Order: sequence, then structure tokens, then C-alpha cells
Amino acid sequence: MSTIGVMTAGGDCPGLNAVIRAVVARLSADGHRAVGIRDGWEGLMEGRTTELTRDHVRGIIARGGTILGTSRLDPYVHGDGFISIERTVRSTGMESLIVVGGDGTLRTASRLEEEGLPVVGVPKTIDNDIAGTDITLGYDTAVQIVTDALDRLTTTAESHNRIIVVEVMGRTAGWIALGAGLAGGAEAILIPEVTYDLDALSEGIKRRHAAGKRYSILVVAEGVPAPQGGVVSAGTDAFGFGRIGGVGSVIAAEVEARTGFETRTVVLGHLQRGGIPTAFDRVLGTRLGVAATELALAGSSGVMVALSNGEIVAVPIADACREPRLVPPERHAQARWFSV
Ligand code: F6P
Repeated sequence: MSTIGVMTAGGDCPGLNAVIRAVVARLSADGHRAVGIRDGWEGLMEGRTTELTRDHVRGIIARGGTILGTSRLDPYVHGDGFISIERTVRSTGMESLIVVGGDGTLRTASRLEEEGLPVVGVPKTIDNDIAGTDITLGYDTAVQIVTDALDRLTTTAESHNRIIVVEVMGRTAGWIALGAGLAGGAEAILIPEVTYDLDALSEGIKRRHAAGKRYSILVVAEGVPAPQGGVVSAGTDAFGFGRIGGVGSVIAAEVEARTGFETRTVVLGHLQRGGIPTAFDRVLGTRLGVAATELALAGSSGVMVALSNGEIVAVPIADACREPRLVPPERHAQARWFSV
């Protein structure tokens, strides 16, 4: 019998519970033991663990968030690195740890692996910015949530002849803005990877309004630099990442000044991370969880499970979290056929 740990860390996203359920079900099926770590690295440092049986994970596949909890603490920043973690690993008898996380979490996992902790990574983040995988867990749901919001905002913008700037998450990557902007038929999609021209955008909006469509929806990724330069943020989180947000209203004011049309801002914020996962994320989480468990049981370490051309594969964690995976400008250029 093997003992395998499972942990979620960093910002939550829909689909995490599908992974936890898959890990526990796969382990239980062959009589292995699953240990859940509460509250991410913080719980692992402090020995906050719980036995997970098949009964604990029944009915959770449709639930958002994570039944294990999460945190943004980093053992190398807020703790003693590997020392207290090793203590928890020893006391629980854990032979391997499945770490479900974004790039910051996976970077920490990779460092701990070098110090001797056997880990298998699972890529999750609504930002979709992890290299080595075609898509990250949670992205599909976030895009669906933003698309639903755009559909709703379009009808009210049209009724009031308004421009609405919709600010979406994504940090330094524009994947959410691009995916939802295309699906929701936005008049412009601004992403951090591609420079924008507010004068040209405003002229395009004026032409559109003059031609009879007197409303516009502009999707702006939170990581887009302000017209004056610099990402708009307020402080940093526990991981040391900037708390990005606020560029939407800056751009709205500029567009209103140039066009003379009433321009409002909607910041979707954490709505994008909450609630039930899409069917795609439930299935992806399940497949990733099963594959990660089988790798852990087989003694693999330092790898991350990933989706590649429809198949689940294993890639080195260190390669996956070196740099964020950004939107290639040519992908964004495809949106120009639908923009003002
Ligand atoms: O990385 C996921 C994410 O939702 C980013 O898109 C966003 O900038 C950040 O987390 C928000 O983090 P928090 O919930 O800690 O404010």
C-alpha cells in the first residue's frame, strides 16, 4: 500500500475538486491511502493533514473552489523551506505529493523536489499561462463565465447607447480576454501582449456608432498597461505577485474623453473563479488527477501532467514554470476581423 498526498495551492479555480476526487478514487481503487493537505503550503508546513476516503469525495465534482482550502503562502518566503515540510511528509508517511497549482506553486514544488520531496504537478489557473500544456484547468470555466457576462452587458449597453469596458483577470496573459472577447463578440480586445492605440480605437467606435450601432463592448485584460505606462495594481499578495486591477476604468475615461460617448466600467473580479466548473473542466480535472496519481504510484517525480493534442502527457515541472505562456500576437490578430 502506498500513501500519496494531494494539495491545492495559490488562487482557487473551478475544477480543483474534480482532481481531488480523481486522486482519491484512483488510490482507493487499488487499496492505497490518500492524505489531503489543508490550505496549501501553509498546511503542509504546519502539519494540517486529513485522511481522504472515497466517501469524502462523493458528490464534489460539480462543486467550485477546493474542499482542501488553499493559500498563497510560500515555504521559502514565509517558512523554513523544506524543513517543516519534511516533518509533515515523514509523520504522514507520504511517499509522493500531488501538487495542484499555478506557476508560482509549481515553481516552489520544483524547488522542493530538488531538495528531495517527490512531487507530481497538476497545472491549474484561470489565467491559462502555464507552459507545457495546451490548456490549464479552470480556464474553460472562466471564459464561459466572462462570455455569459458579455452577453448580458451587450443587451444593457445597446439599450442605453453606452460603451462598456469589461476588465477581466489573467495577470500578464491575455488568454481570458481573448477567449471570452471572441466568444462574446466584443468590439475590441486589449491584452498585455499587444500594444494598443486609443486614438484609432476611439475613431473606430465613432464610425461604428455613426453607422447605427450605438454601443460597444471593450474587453480589457487586467495586465494591460495604462496609457501612461505601467501595470495598474495595488500592493502585492503573500506570494509577492502584484495585486493587479484598475486599468479598465483608466481606459474607460480615455475612451469617453475621445468619443464623447458615455462609457462605463465593469470589473468581473473573483466572479471569474467561483462557482461550478464546466463539463470540460470536470473531465480535464478528472483525467489530470488520474494520470498524476498513476505517475506518483509508479515513482515518477519532478513531472507535471499536461494536455497535449487531446492526450494527457507528463512534462518536466521545471520547464513548465520557467516563463508564463503568453498569447502569441498572431492569435490576437485573428480578432481584428471582428473589431471596430
Ligand atoms: O492567477 C489567478 C488570478 O485570478 C489572477 O487572474 C488574478 O490577478 C489573481 O489571481 C487574483 O488573486 P487574488 O485572489 O489573490 O486577489
